Amino acid sequence: MISSMTPERIRDDVQRELPLVDRFQRAHRSLRVSVTDVCNIRCQYCMPDGKVPFMPSERHLSFGQLAEFVRVTASLGVTHYRLTGGEPLMRPDLYKLIELLVPIRGVQEVALTTNGMFLAEQLPQLVSAGLSRVNISLDTLSEESFQRLSRRAGLHRVLEGIEAVLAQPGVELRLNALVLRDVNLDDVVDLVSFARQRGVVIRFIEFMPLDGQRAWSQQRMVSGDELRQRLVRHFGPLTIKPRPDSAQPSTDYVFCDGTAVGFIDSVTRPFCGNCDRLRITSDGKIRNCLFGKQEWDVAPQLLELAHLSQQWNSAQFEHTNTSAAASSLPLAYSAAQQQVVQIIRDCVAAKAAAHGVHDLDFHPPERAMYQIGG
Ligand code: 5AD
Ligand code: SF4
Repeated sequence: MISSMTPERIRDDVQRELPLVDRFQRAHRSLRVSVTDVCNIRCQYCMPDGKVPFMPSERHLSFGQLAEFVRVTASLGVTHYRLTGGEPLMRPDLYKLIELLVPIRGVQEVALTTNGMFLAEQLPQLVSAGLSRVNISLDTLSEESFQRLSRRAGLHRVLEGIEAVLAQPGVELRLNALVLRDVNLDDVVDLVSFARQRGVVIRFIEFMPLDGQRAWSQQRMVSGDELRQRLVRHFGPLTIKPRPDSAQPSTDYVFCDGTAVGFIDSVTRPFCGNCDRLRITSDGKIRNCLFGKQEWDVAPQLLELAHLSQQWNSAQFEHTNTSAAASSLPLAYSAAQQQVVQIIRDCVAAKAAAHGVHDLDFHPPERAMYQIGG
């Protein structure tokens, strides 16, 4: 009889008792899920100029495969999930993925990182599906700088996306800004004023050597220290706030009136010691670090799991649970899950202590930000 052994029951048999702890005692509780490498704009800090080598969409994991991966990771102690890309809202019907992920046991939060341009139209469906947190990239309030930075037009659509989230109760919003010295350094005061007026936290992320153009340089990057000095000159003193969660990459500061601004100083103050993150690319490769050179392919195993789940569901639906084929499903499902567990464990075991951006022999990874998942 397989009727009581649903995929959900079998899922609970995965080794819950052994969380994903690496050689440096870091427990892994968060997963970045890239759903596509495609994007509608071409931010200089992320994408190359000209024709971008996007992968064929057949290589993207299906929502069923992604849900199988999330089910396994959740059973190993991962609680926080963030959908990213490319631009995740370029993936048709993204809300359907959220509907699959939110009910999985152990999943505490499904969040989204987006450029915001498709958000106003998709937000109602995303929120009904269970989306609870959104990060929107906002690097400038000037259309001219937006076009220089993203090589495309349409800042007003980002702003509409932001207003849509602000009008939506129950969704946490954060803004992410990345400053390139030669493009948008003069925009930071306006950005902070904009965020403070709306009661939203804006976080400044240091430019990392992950751009598709390979045009990163120390000179183009603006450090968190330099930005803080600029903001203090304009707005007055900033006080550092203790971190509520040590794995959170951003350090929040508050102005005298209590409004906050965050900084992710990934280059000048790496936070690798507290990293609790894993990533999966849209073609099913697990990565233990943005800067890692190695990837662990789980696409074939996830394909098998998704097939088995489907067969199982239809066997239950058709009450054909006495057939020999149907009764072997739980074993096959559990074996395929165990393979995925082992691959994830291998990936976690190989995680380096730090990203090594300052090492003399540092080379950026082969894949750029849009191909890994921001
Ligand atoms: N360095 C740091 N952050 C980056 N992002 C994209 N490229 C880079 C980079 N080279 C971040 C942006 C964006 C998110 C999707 O990824 O802040 O908000
Ligand atoms: Fe697109 Fe985001 Fe990359 Fe900008 S940073 S090009 S919005 S994927």
